[in-house]
Amino acid sequence: MYNTLHFRDEGNGQPVILLHGFAEDGAIWDRQAEALSTVARVVIPDLPGSGGSPAAGPVTMESMATQIRELLDDLRIRKTILIGHSMGGYISLAFAALYPERLHAFGLFHSTAYPDTEEKKTVRRKAITFIRANGVAPFIRQSTPNLFSPATREGRPQLVESTIAKYSGFSADALIAYYEAMIARPDRTAVLSQFTGPVFFAIGADDAIVPVEQALQQCHLPSIAHLHMVEGAGHMAMLETPEISNRILLDFINFVYRS
Ligand code: MLT
Repeated sequence: MYNTLHFRDEGNGQPVILLHGFAEDGAIWDRQAEALSTVARVVIPDLPGSGGSPAAGPVTMESMATQIRELLDDLRIRKTILIGHSMGGYISLAFAALYPERLHAFGLFHSTAYPDTEEKKTVRRKAITFIRANGVAPFIRQSTPNLFSPATREGRPQLVESTIAKYSGFSADALIAYYEAMIARPDRTAVLSQFTGPVFFAIGADDAIVPVEQALQQCHLPSIAHLHMVEGAGHMAMLETPEISNRILLDFINFVYRS
């Protein structure tokens, strides 16, 4: 199948794929693209319906993982490191379940292998109703501040505002499709236990979306785990603490490819 995903491909060397999360696009990784492409080939796709990629209608974590695998095929990348932010982490887990032979390692950047609780599913269904009734811009304005730590919200309100401005024009259909896919995603803790390569975890010390306790609970499952607690970050360490994010990702890439 011809792959229609829009992507960036920067730097040379061993590959690293960075997947963005819900209501974002590949630009969320701009600071990491700059730093990581000095040592690796960094490929950053926009998920279907995000950024420059056309919508794919209803999606699942598996369908998006398969689109990423097709992109790797097109780029002749046989095996890679795959890092996913939040929903991108759910896709990375689906990818590891379907195509473990294509991964040297993968990483959950503010993400979790646990499925939604019933309470979380209800919150998502309410959000879908809100988007349908009010449109995307009020939804982004209401939900975005919660992605950042109190320190970021108070100290750098312009970072919150610029994120709101950037994503207020998002497609409502795409957001709803992502919500449906997140509600439907299964428990993937067995993927963490069964994967034989290294797994990276970045946990925001003030993450209100993936709580620290839940993020920590899964870290003992892989046989090789690299765990980083990012102080000062909420759910957006790539923007909130870019230098720390770059350093821990570079350390992991070096560990995987140089050891
Ligand atoms: C994301 O950042 O991708 C989403 O907030 C993830 C989620 O809601 O579970």
